Amino acid sequence: MTNFVSVNPAHYNEIVTEVPLASSGDIIEACRAAKAAQPQWASIPAPARGRVIAQVGRLVEANKESLSRLVTREIGKVYAEALGEVQEVIDTCDFFLGEGRRLYGQTVPSEMPDKQLMTFRMPVGTAAIVTAANFPAAVPSWYLVPALLTGNTIVWKPAEHAAGIALAMAELFYAGGIPRDVLQVVVADGPTTFEGLDAAMQAGYVNKLGFTGSTDVGRRLGELAGRHLQSPCLELGGKNPMVVMPDANLDLVIEGALFSGFGSAGQRCTSLGTMWVHRDIYEVVRDRFVTATQEAVVGDPFADVLFGPLIDEKYLINHDKHLGMIADHHTVYGSTSVGRVTSANPRAGFIGDPDAGWFAHPTIVEGIRPGDALYDTETFGPLVGLGVFDTLEEAIELSNGHGYGLSSAIYSSDPQAIWKFRQGISAGMLSVNNTTSGAEAHLPFGGNGRSGNGSRQSGVWVLDQFTRWQSMNWDFSGKLQKAQMDLIELPCDMDFRL
Ligand code: UN1
Repeated sequence: MTNFVSVNPAHYNEIVTEVPLASSGDIIEACRAAKAAQPQWASIPAPARGRVIAQVGRLVEANKESLSRLVTREIGKVYAEALGEVQEVIDTCDFFLGEGRRLYGQTVPSEMPDKQLMTFRMPVGTAAIVTAANFPAAVPSWYLVPALLTGNTIVWKPAEHAAGIALAMAELFYAGGIPRDVLQVVVADGPTTFEGLDAAMQAGYVNKLGFTGSTDVGRRLGELAGRHLQSPCLELGGKNPMVVMPDANLDLVIEGALFSGFGSAGQRCTSLGTMWVHRDIYEVVRDRFVTATQEAVVGDPFADVLFGPLIDEKYLINHDKHLGMIADHHTVYGSTSVGRVTSANPRAGFIGDPDAGWFAHPTIVEGIRPGDALYDTETFGPLVGLGVFDTLEEAIELSNGHGYGLSSAIYSSDPQAIWKFRQGISAGMLSVNNTTSGAEAHLPFGGNGRSGNGSRQSGVWVLDQFTRWQSMNWDFSGKLQKAQMDLIELPCDMDFRL
């Protein structure tokens, strides 16, 4: 059995977690056991399950600082943002603890007398949840909390690089009252996970796939789910545009672009991809953004910095690949250099030891236009594109043209422009005078096109992912009444005119 060793990306000699990697057989067994546990879990009244979610929320709150420190140590997210991430877990529990006392169905009138129609939300069964390393606590909670509340059992496959955080999260759920067979965590690599899930689905152990990660992997898991006639919940990549109109508040624009472009080292699926700026204010915005980026502090994620290291070396390698997409017609700004920050390739104002971790220079690429690889590639690192537009229609086209559709933003004080943008943008989420990132835990989260299959998480909307409607009709007339045939019609005079 091989072990996975996750290290601190700001000090890669420091081991954070060492866990055995699961085999495909382990995954199948976890799915079998979760499936076996599901009827018992579903038989617990929903208000009692809601109470468990309340307890989990209070425990996460009581452990907020220690879990956040682990997030910073294991994936390098700046501590202030890690606290925000853990708060999102608490918010999600707070939202769903009351849902246990709702989970409303409907009573619906029948077209026949002495007959009643009703609907019930039924759990889907067992869900296999596969999550990414960039939001190792908040995003898993968006799946786990509503799925458990609605009576499903779970096999959770977290990103290996966030294994320690996942195991800590699971312990908080167990301490809050979730039985161990109801929530199982398996740490495995991608190919093994695919093999295990394929077999577990063949055996009928898995009824729902949930996946947050890359568009490519989402496609493969979507195909797998489709073969089993399932509709997965897919939250995939983004190339999130920010449109800056001539009447925008530029202080807000610069602050927003820094936070959404470089916060979490650009490794959010909601990170700013390309900032599209109206030609009339283009140079002013570019110069201010470049200066702010040059002055931003990068380094130790426990210090007061804009961003820390990349999650792992492989993300740095990926970032380098994207730097290779910079073309001759582009101009690069943002730092003293590009690529990895080291003592030989320094960044002014860096805090900490750059050679000890996987840090990258923030990079702004000017001159993005359709046809560029950087126009339609999600870069998932500290790289922000800059482009120019003349009309709002053009800005909308540029924002939609790459086929991603997760998040988007417009900065303007013109209501007409804002409403036209809302109408035209294909993204599932849009912000007005706010950045592309920073979704709240109770509004639908999800994308269209290359960003997902239209599924939505969070708030009441995610209930449709983890429950299925059961409709019931109850005839108490004592005779066979035939729908569509035993019609009740009152007399009318259709020739009547005033
Ligand atoms: C993600 O990047 O997968 O809106 C989720 C945000 C966070 C969630 C991002 N609340 O940026």
